[in-house]
Amino acid sequence: MKGFRFDESRPLVKAAARKGKLEMEYLQLGNGEILLIREAEKEDASRIVDYTNQVGKETDNLTFGEDGYGISAEMEASYIESFSKIDNRLMLCAFIDGNLVGHLSFTGGVRPRTRHAGEFGITVLKQHWGKGIGTQLLNYLIAWAKQGRIIRKINLKVRSDNQRAIRLYQKAGFVASGTNTREFCIAGKFYDSVAMGLEID
Ligand SMILES: CC(C)(COP(=O)(O)OP(=O)(O)OC[C@H]1O[C@@H](n2cnc3c(N)ncnc32)[C@H](O)[C@@H]1OP(=O)(O)O)[C@@H](O)C(=O)NCCC(=O)NCCS
Repeated sequence: MKGFRFDESRPLVKAAARKGKLEMEYLQLGNGEILLIREAEKEDASRIVDYTNQVGKETDNLTFGEDGYGISAEMEASYIESFSKIDNRLMLCAFIDGNLVGHLSFTGGVRPRTRHAGEFGITVLKQHWGKGIGTQLLNYLIAWAKQGRIIRKINLKVRSDNQRAIRLYQKAGFVASGTNTREFCIAGKFYDSVAMGLEID
């Protein structure tokens, strides 16, 4: 699965390059900005932690908020290392002008009966919402899954009132399979989540 090659015919693809063992993808967004998407490296750990703490302050759609991500840079570095070594995991970073603006992490199951399926989380810095960055991160994940031929199902859970994210997933072909009531409790109020999935064939 590492050794993934990009589909050059994807509409926004400007260039794909290899950096060491990592694949990188440069894309031009609708507003002309250049987006770099690549797998996370250990050296990204502290900026991923800072980024994730920032994202937690910007949205109530995640499992953490202003209280923070609760992960140290050392712990993050060891996650990144495990993601780079395990063939059914993927951690992506998106950059504009060298700044981390988006992040996605997908974790496949550990046991043989579940390793073909996994769940992901995706975030984009609020000032960059609506530029197509979420769409590009998700496209990368789907292309990686199709090419690797290990992942046959991509799952997610999303707060049922997170219309922006639900629209993003529907556009990519994800189908809702049910509602979990009281998935989140934020400031004393319960929120449901919707389970969605995409079969990879
Ligand atoms: C959800 C999130 C990742 C989307 O990222 P993004 O970069 O803004 O997404 P895109 O620009 O690719 O837009 C994706 C789609 O969202 C939809 N969308 C955009 N703005 C919207 C709005 N104001 N209302 C409803 N849908 C909207 C559109 O369908 C859009 O696709 P289109 O422009 O091709 O029609 C981002 O908003 C985010 O990080 N939110 C906070 C964290 C979060 O909710 N993560 C998901 C948890 S499950």
